[in-house]
Amino acid sequence: MSNQYTIVLAAGQGTRMKSKLYKVLHPVCGKPMVEHVVGEIEKLEVTKIVTVVGHGAEKVKEHLQGKSDFVMQAEQLGTAHAVLQAKDLLENLDGVTLVVCGDTPLIQSSTMAALMKYHHEKRAKATILTTTVADPTGYGRIVRDDLGIVEKIVEHKDASEKERRITEINTGTYCFDNRSLFAALAKVSNDNAQGEYYLPDVIKILKSEDEVVAAYRMENFEESLGVNDRVALAEAGRIMRARINEAHMRNGVTLIDPAHTYIDVDVEIGQDTVIEPGVTLRGRTRIGSDCVITSGSDFNHAEIGDRVYVRSSAIEESSVGDDVQIGPYAHLRPESVIHDKVKIGNYVETKKATVGKGTKLPHFIYMGDAEIGQNVNVGCGSIAVNYDGKDKFKTVIGDNVFVGCNSNLVAPVTIHSNTYIAAGSTITEDVPEEAMAIARARQVNKEGYIKNLNVGK
Ligand code: UD1
Ligand code: MG
Repeated sequence: MSNQYTIVLAAGQGTRMKSKLYKVLHPVCGKPMVEHVVGEIEKLEVTKIVTVVGHGAEKVKEHLQGKSDFVMQAEQLGTAHAVLQAKDLLENLDGVTLVVCGDTPLIQSSTMAALMKYHHEKRAKATILTTTVADPTGYGRIVRDDLGIVEKIVEHKDASEKERRITEINTGTYCFDNRSLFAALAKVSNDNAQGEYYLPDVIKILKSEDEVVAAYRMENFEESLGVNDRVALAEAGRIMRARINEAHMRNGVTLIDPAHTYIDVDVEIGQDTVIEPGVTLRGRTRIGSDCVITSGSDFNHAEIGDRVYVRSSAIEESSVGDDVQIGPYAHLRPESVIHDKVKIGNYVETKKATVGKGTKLPHFIYMGDAEIGQNVNVGCGSIAVNYDGKDKFKTVIGDNVFVGCNSNLVAPVTIHSNTYIAAGSTITEDVPEEAMAIARARQVNKEGYIKNLNVGK
């Protein structure tokens, strides 16, 4: 096999997206489009990947650091001009160059490999990846002669009425003989409807030089979707989601309604876990086996053990052990570490909190900057008072502590093991081991008070 290079086009602003975010960084199932593309290229083990950056160059580079080399296209004068920026890195090399657009997030490595293979078999100087779509609006059309041989690609805006009726489109992915590509690029002009240097014009140029140009038509037109606006972005999300969800179901995960289950591309889920509709699993979330996650749950970078039951709750950047029950309507904020057999009930919020094995936080609780031991019971309405308006302080609770309802634990404070906090206490001092702390005003009953109030009636 000859050397294989890849150029990813990712310099455009994406005007049609009408967005502050650069087009190729718009996420599809949790990952920027261009990262999907480069991820698939990486599977091919090519010699070199060069990404053309321009708009948002620094941000795009951040996402692809270590995976690609970069060249800068300072002004976006068209896709041919974009490829030309890789000249210094590639021009004098022998081999085959694959060009892929950063806005086609659904393209798969198997398709790129098939394109390369076809290109070699045809001994072509250029091979276009094409497909047939029901609505070709916006795409470049593949113009073939009477014998069916590719003549050129004509952009939608430059196409005649007759050409616009062609449903075979340019997917924006191509293979070129590397030297022929750069020789032809030098001859591309910008004499067209958009005043841009079109990469597809390389086809016409190579044809005029009697070189062999081939077209590899793929069956699965969905893969070719080019995302130029938000409508296509939603469509790409739908297709990617179907792919991801199918893979989980084939791995033994039950999705009650896969069309309404939103799982990012890097999420892992164990066997026999059941996910209800309306659940969103983001980032690097990992869920173990035999869990049940009910509607409305939203996890971001959550690590969940086995046999965990989460009812309609949010979990962010936190870990949960085995046999835990959470919710409904709990919120585990970043750096919550929930150990095995814990029960977190309704309307409970934790943040930077460790909760020891077997501990129960059953209802209406806030525990922030807290370290809670094993077999603790925190009563309804209790709060770790962690913030004085300026700084945050820590609450430490030992093992086997019973915190009565509606207690305020004013941090910094330590409640040692085997203690009891009386309901309604505002604890401002440490509680020594085996003590009972009570910190509230004594009750006063004013006898006859109501009768006196009613005197004037
Ligand atoms: C392009 C093709 C069209 C094809 C379609 C497939 C051209 C002229 N047209 O159209 O035939 O059917 O893709 O989706 O190539 N870019 C740069 N620098 C530039 C211009 C674009 O890096 O100066 C990048 C963009 O960031 C994008 C990619 O190239 O990732 C394609 O550009 P875009 O403007 O989306 O081209 P399309 O109109 O979709
Ligand atoms: Mg496009």
